[in-house]
Amino acid sequence: MTDIADVLLVHGGTPLEGEIRVRGAKNLVPKAMVAALLGSEPSRLLGVPEIRDVRVVRGLLQLHGVTVESGEAPGELVLDPRRVESANVADIDAHAGSSRIPILFCGPLLHRLGHAFIPGLGGCDIGGRPIDFHFDVLRKFGATIEKRADGQYLEAPQRLRGCRIRLPYPSVGSTEQVLLTAVLAEGVTELTNAAVEPEIEDLICVLQKMGAIISLDTDRTIRITGVDSLGGYVHRAIPDRLEAASWASAALATEGDIYVRGAQQRSMMTFLNTYRRVGGAFEIDDEGIRFWHPGGPLNAIALETDVHPGFQTDWQQPLVVALTQASGLSIVHETVYESRLGFTEALNQMGGHIQLYRECLGGSACRFGQRNFLHSAVVSGPTKLQGADLVIPDLRGGFSYLIAALAAQGTSRVHGISLINRGYENFLAKLQGLGADIELPSLPGSPPAAVA
Ligand code: EPU
Repeated sequence: MTDIADVLLVHGGTPLEGEIRVRGAKNLVPKAMVAALLGSEPSRLLGVPEIRDVRVVRGLLQLHGVTVESGEAPGELVLDPRRVESANVADIDAHAGSSRIPILFCGPLLHRLGHAFIPGLGGCDIGGRPIDFHFDVLRKFGATIEKRADGQYLEAPQRLRGCRIRLPYPSVGSTEQVLLTAVLAEGVTELTNAAVEPEIEDLICVLQKMGAIISLDTDRTIRITGVDSLGGYVHRAIPDRLEAASWASAALATEGDIYVRGAQQRSMMTFLNTYRRVGGAFEIDDEGIRFWHPGGPLNAIALETDVHPGFQTDWQQPLVVALTQASGLSIVHETVYESRLGFTEALNQMGGHIQLYRECLGGSACRFGQRNFLHSAVVSGPTKLQGADLVIPDLRGGFSYLIAALAAQGTSRVHGISLINRGYENFLAKLQGLGADIELPSLPGSPPAAVA
């Protein structure tokens, strides 16, 4: 059962109009916080959003003796790692299942303490999400790993050594694992088939500010020359291009007009090309991007998700809601996560026509084609959506349900909205500022609660 306070009533049919601001990227900020652990001096991180992953990492850092305090500016964190110490396993374990970021503590803790304990990971249920690449990489650096019932115990019997690594797939987390471990390892590390997402480039910038030596070639090769020690950094986090694209999709699906302050063209080029093909309009200035529905029918498209610079998988779910309003058959091929289309079942209950397929449709064959996963979709549109009872399945799927409910006729009850706070700062206030007709249902016997 979902807690009543975790339910949102959405009265659909009103275009979202106005301005919102995105701050630092969810997929960079917690990692930059972990990087501070590698330094011998305090670091200052700017543009930090108030989201759950930040709170989880803050708690874990504090358990390891890092002081984490708010700085003078809003969204500024000061992280002081000068008194790093071992944490109690039970205290770390209390964070089990809360996030995927704890896996990135391995390298920094092995360097600082010689050992690390990593609890069971959380994160969205959008596929198997194994961590085999991470542990293969850490073993190559010289770490030993023992899996026990409560989590993974790692040790570095001596200083970790640089090595040559080729990732089987350009995994974001595994690339970050290599970066955060190689910077203080002895000698040179050469990583091929690395992920090159903008958030990874930003993490490289953070590490370079700390004193690391890292080069990134155009062929997915990253070379890191280990150094003996690192200092602190002062860094403003790259803005959240995934959140920006979610609001852009909301503007399109609700026939609205949203200025996303902080959105940057450079990190969103592939999304912008796709948005234009669908028929969405945008205008870029130095401070952000305005996204709107220009009127008239939207176009059906073929879309394939991929690692950067391809179409980011996290952009897929919100845009699919807009595709239910496009004229004709759109094809969506999800190649990064095997189970990221399950959220479409609820869109069908609302009146959408989305059929899932096990085959690789529309694009090249991917890792999932032969493995019986429903990872392609055909979206027939346009379809009128009707309000429904919705249970949020994962972060981006959850935001997509909000978009669908806002675009639909009638009222939807959206259950499990607290999950959205994992990646969308202040989303209720932002929605209300854009004119969304939403309310938190009252507890029995009390009047309806307004959204704060
Ligand atoms: N993979 C493995 N073995 C591993 C690691 C990954 O097989 O050891 C596979 C995964 O199963 C998946 C693919 O590699 O099929 C890509 O996974 P990746 O490691 O790139 O993902 P991640 O680091 O776990 C981050 C983001 C995701 C985002 C992906 C892809 C964070 C905290 N999460 O996940 O963000 O979708 O990269 O860009 O940075 C989200 O924001 O909603 C979200 C899920």
